[in-house]
Amino acid sequence: MSPDAATTRRVDTAANAPACDLPAIQSLVAADMAAVDALIRRRLASDVVLVNQIGEHIVAAGGKRLRPMLAVLAARALGYAGTDHHQLAAIIEFIHTATLLHDDVVDESDLRRGRKTANALWGNAPSVLVGDFLYSRSFQLMVELERPQVMQVLADTTNAIAEGEVLQLLHVRNPDTDEAAYTRVIERKTAVLFAAATRLGALLADADAHTQQALHDYGLELGFAFQIADDVLDYTADAGALGKNLGDDLAEGKATLPLIHALAHADADAAAAIRHAIATGDLTAMPAILAAIRGSGGLDYSAAKARDHACRAQDALHVIPPSLWRDALHGLARYAIERDH
Ligand code: IPE
Ligand code: IPE
Ligand code: MG
Ligand code: MG
Repeated sequence: MSPDAATTRRVDTAANAPACDLPAIQSLVAADMAAVDALIRRRLASDVVLVNQIGEHIVAAGGKRLRPMLAVLAARALGYAGTDHHQLAAIIEFIHTATLLHDDVVDESDLRRGRKTANALWGNAPSVLVGDFLYSRSFQLMVELERPQVMQVLADTTNAIAEGEVLQLLHVRNPDTDEAAYTRVIERKTAVLFAAATRLGALLADADAHTQQALHDYGLELGFAFQIADDVLDYTADAGALGKNLGDDLAEGKATLPLIHALAHADADAAAAIRHAIATGDLTAMPAILAAIRGSGGLDYSAAKARDHACRAQDALHVIPPSLWRDALHGLARYAIERDH
């Protein structure tokens, strides 16, 4: 198949496929996630007032808590019966939240989780520093687990995320960013944290190396699907539902997959308008650019890619025994690409 062809694989939606609906999955993990949330709240605390204010601001706004949910589900799917998975899930969410605080500064975003961003309310310096607080708090929680392998995976993961963010920065305002470069960025900035969440859930459950690898592969593929879907939503979502501003990526000069595909396939005029917008962040031609993205198949192509990754995530689950937990992981792969926020 040519790399440009939109693929036709579908995620498993057959009548006998496990339910994907989020409420059912959430109720399956409700008790675990309540414990995770309590732990997050407890360990967010600092006697420095501004740390509490900013931490509370972003944590209380919620978020989907998808990554901690994945860690919990992976552990449960492999028979884990202890309580360390709550701490693992909190660690993953702290790392995620730290990256969001940093990301909104870098991206100059002013809306997140339906609220004004911390950088919009308090400024860049407090956001970066409280992001550092959350990162280092996650390290404290890791040490408490007394599992060198967990430390190893999370050290490598946070390092890769930082590289991904810097790599992305190097491509900002560059209209020649291609799909291979885009893929390298999203693997590091997003997919590796999903992979760590599910691999470490398996590791806590003392799963064998083969099973840990399968859960890693599931998380990595899910992370790719999730970020590509996010990049499509940046052009297509309802802003209210998304809780973030639409068009932020283009305004930041970020060439994401829908745009990269459009640039390679749109007519000369549209391509010139897109190149100009990436280089300058000028959104005045947004309606024409959106039309070019749609017309050139950029949204369909990206959605098909996301679907492909979600399929591969589901395939990776075949090595683990059937259970409601495995069904939920299967369902979340579908949710990642069908969500509206
Ligand atoms: C946002 O992640 C950052 C991306 C990788 C796209 P989420 O969409 O999971 O953010 P919250 O936690 O639900 O707000
Ligand atoms: C995800 O990229 C960034 C992180 C992994 C922190 P985006 O910049 O697309 O995330 P949003 O859209 O701001 O949530
Ligand atoms: Mg951003
Ligand atoms: Mg985004």
